[in-house]
Amino acid sequence: MPRTWITVCDTCKRDGWDPAQTPATDGERLAELVESTAASDWPGLGVRRHACLMGCTRACNVAVQGAGKLAYTLGMFEPTPEAAQAICAWAALHADSATGIVPYRQWPEGVKGHFVTRHLPLPQE
Ligand code: FES
Repeated sequence: MPRTWITVCDTCKRDGWDPAQTPATDGERLAELVESTAASDWPGLGVRRHACLMGCTRACNVAVQGAGKLAYTLGMFEPTPEAAQAICAWAALHADSATGIVPYRQWPEGVKGHFVTRHLPLPQE
């Protein structure tokens, strides 16, 4: 079971998305890139897709979660290999951390300015 999961919204559409030009949504394109990047460089990460993370005006959106750790939502990504690389690199640091907190000095440039929310883990029963 992966320690950290990336959930990519596969229905995100950025301003200007034109289905006549690009049938795949921006979210589908980002999901494909995150899936392939994680598979080749960080196979320990889990990647899944979900339709709408309710951050539509900040497309493209992803969530990063791990059991017992702070969870994060990030948005305003373009569906590019560089964005996928930054998302996966930061998620790998999240996976390696005990709490989900990744020191800012370690953040890949490509995630800076993209954090939207963070959520505490559920209390232990
Ligand atoms: S369509 Fe992606 S967050 Fe709503």
